[in-house]
Amino acid sequence: MVGSKSKVTVRTLQEMKRSGERIAMVTAYDATMARIVEAGGVDVVLVGDSLGMVIQGLDTTLPVTLDEMIYHCRAVARGLKHAHLVGDLPFLSYQTGPEDAMRSAGRLLKEGGCESVKLEGGEEMAPTVARLVTVGIPVMGHVGLTPQSVHAMGGFRVQGKDDASAERILRGARALCDAGAYAVVLEGIPLTLAARVTAEISVPTIGIGAGPHCDGQVLVIHDLLGFFDELRPKFVKRYDELGERARSAVSAYVAEVRSGEFPTREHSFGAAPPRIAAPTPGSEPEPDPPRKAYGPTGC
Ligand code: KIV
Repeated sequence: MVGSKSKVTVRTLQEMKRSGERIAMVTAYDATMARIVEAGGVDVVLVGDSLGMVIQGLDTTLPVTLDEMIYHCRAVARGLKHAHLVGDLPFLSYQTGPEDAMRSAGRLLKEGGCESVKLEGGEEMAPTVARLVTVGIPVMGHVGLTPQSVHAMGGFRVQGKDDASAERILRGARALCDAGAYAVVLEGIPLTLAARVTAEISVPTIGIGAGPHCDGQVLVIHDLLGFFDELRPKFVKRYDELGERARSAVSAYVAEVRSGEFPTREHSFGAAPPRIAAPTPGSEPEPDPPRKAYGPTGC
């Protein structure tokens, strides 16, 4: 999809599974990051409720509200042209029944600009998925380590390690697919289980901590870029250490402010009326440079 610049739709993603082309998905939470990840060539951008942890500083995703999700989805939608935009349904915006799910999902599409929604859960969510699909709302499922069930799981723990749990995940993925989900996220499960699910269901699997045999992969952008230090799960590959680089950039700025090295004339506006202007050390003020499209307007 990278070079073609055509709009990525749920059909594109299903075609990618059929042709064996891997799907690249990441999270984003604002327009600037959405532009960056799209320029990087991702197929799918997820506004994950992980924003509770990486943006809001919470310990879990549970307190994130639907209004907060809509706010971030709307910002991300403004930054995208080609990638498919998925919004997470936050905790308790859909578990209370298919009609509530429809209202919540509808708001993510109408107000947030999303093109599909993601919800967590397996077999128990199949009727809800079917209801959403019936009214034309594409749904991505999510099984395995489902962060909205953190308390039931006893922490963010790998799932599917025993027979019963692996069976439940397999049945869940099948049920979501049968109900009409267009893709299923597999999070925090053994790679052999992910390979089995991927081989069995007809829609793409998107893995996170689920090994290399999924049809696609997703990472939280703060993990991928090395911004987030609170948790460092084994499955995360950090492609940069932007947190460290941002800290050094900020300390360079602080040092230059303290020493007076910043700002220079280059970053200043020159000509105040001579009657008012205070004398400055050094040469006469230079005329203001031509105004750029972005920046202060001289007040
Ligand atoms: O909330 C999120 O970012 C997610 C992904 C990690 C799959 O659900």
